[in-house]
Amino acid sequence: MQLIFIGAPGSGKGTQANRLTKELGYNHISTGDLLRSEVAKESPLGTKIKDIIDAGNLVDDELVMELLSKNCSLSSGRYIFDGFPRNVQQCKMLDQQVLSSQNYKVILFKIDNEVIVERIINRRVAADSGKIYNLITSPPLSPGVCDETGEVLVHRDDDKRDVVEKRMEIFDKTINPMIDYYRAGGKLVELDASLDPNEVFNKLTELIE
Ligand code: AP5
Ligand code: MG
Repeated sequence: MQLIFIGAPGSGKGTQANRLTKELGYNHISTGDLLRSEVAKESPLGTKIKDIIDAGNLVDDELVMELLSKNCSLSSGRYIFDGFPRNVQQCKMLDQQVLSSQNYKVILFKIDNEVIVERIINRRVAADSGKIYNLITSPPLSPGVCDETGEVLVHRDDDKRDVVEKRMEIFDKTINPMIDYYRAGGKLVELDASLDPNEVFNKLTELIE
């Protein structure tokens, strides 16, 4: 079964996807990570994408779909789609162009907006290892560097308070039609994402069994 993670910025989608990948052998595809890899190339396309992300807006559906299709092949196993879809148009694209008749479940990470602003502002990420830290709740062993690779941790440019607020505003506008879409198809399950990361993981594994 394939998994789709939907939820607000900072709700913990990446954190849980990393652990499921490590412990249960899923492939993890994050459209945010794919877009950030394009940005890192510093190509004209990357610069255009960076401006959109740093303003807290959504990147064009067709472009994200193209990146996603290039980077996933369902014949190679079970996937977690993290951060895609972001609107009903993308839900339909994913159904028609990628999942077709595959069985899948959609996990909605539920959490209050007040909690996630603090989570995001304190997030630091390791671009190469993909590890996600939090200065308050899950700091690295040595300040500023990744425990696994020793690389310098990054504060994402879109993790500044004003951009986070814009991202949350867009999320609030787009999430309800997606919930309706997946509920109508009998695909949606809800997860309490406000709990401790281990508890979230335990509940998640129960939901996908
Ligand atoms: P993307 O990278 O997908 O960002 P997002 O969806 O906003 O989600 P985040 O990565 O911010 O949060 P998360 O839920 O993964 O939380 P995490 O586990 O890191 O997208 C970025 C941008 O790219 C978009 O704004 C858009 O511009 C563009 N984009 C991407 N996909 C697109 C698409 N499909 N279409 C169009 N545009 C697209 O956790 C957050 C923090 O909380 C961490 O510090 C973590 O340690 C901590 N934490 C996690 N879980 C817990 C817990 N249970 N308790 C306490 N702390 C926790
Ligand atoms: Mg993420």
